[in-house]
Amino acid sequence: MKIRIRPILHSVLAACLLFGVITYAAATTTVEVYKSPTCGCCDKWVDHMRDHGFTVKTHDVGNKEIRKKMGMSESLGSCHTATINGYVFEGHIPAPDIKRFLRERPKALGLAVPDMPHGSPGMEGSRVDPYSVLLVKERGDSRRDTTIYNRYDPNAKSRSEPAQTDTEGAQDGSVMRLK
Ligand code: CU
Ligand code: CU
Repeated sequence: MKIRIRPILHSVLAACLLFGVITYAAATTTVEVYKSPTCGCCDKWVDHMRDHGFTVKTHDVGNKEIRKKMGMSESLGSCHTATINGYVFEGHIPAPDIKRFLRERPKALGLAVPDMPHGSPGMEGSRVDPYSVLLVKERGDSRRDTTIYNRYDPNAKSRSEPAQTDTEGAQDGSVMRLK
C-alpha cells in the first residue's frame, strides 16, 4: 500500500504559511507613542511594550495635542498616549490588555489608565496600588462613561473581609496625579 504523502505535505505547508503570516502581523504592529522627552516612566512603559513584542516608534513632543486629536478626554489623561491602527491607548496600560483588545477589536475608541498608578507597567517601585484599565467607547467620553476592561488589585486575594464599594472617589490618593 502506498501512502499518499503529497496532500499531507501540502496541508502542512499551508498551515505553516498561515501561522507565519499571523505571527508576522502581530510582531509588526507598530505602536506610535507620544510622550515627553524627559519622562522616565514613559520610557519604561515603552520598554515594557517592546518586551511584549511590539514595535514602538516614539515621538518626544508631549501627548496633549495627540490626545485631543484622537478624542481621548483629558479627564482620562496620563503622561503618554499611544496609537495603534486608529485606536488610542492612554497611560500605563499593561501590554497583555492591549493584545487582548487588538484581538477582540471592540467597537471602541481605546483603553485608558488615567493618571499614573503605582505598580502599573513603567511605574514599578516599592508601592503597588490597585487600578483599572478602562474601556473608552467613544470620542470625548469622560471617566463615568467608561467601563472596566480589566482590574488589577494586589489586595484582592489576601483580603478576607469584603472589599469596600468601589467608587471613583475611593481611589483618590492611591494614584500619582499628573498635576
Ligand atoms: Cu507615567
Ligand atoms: Cu508615560
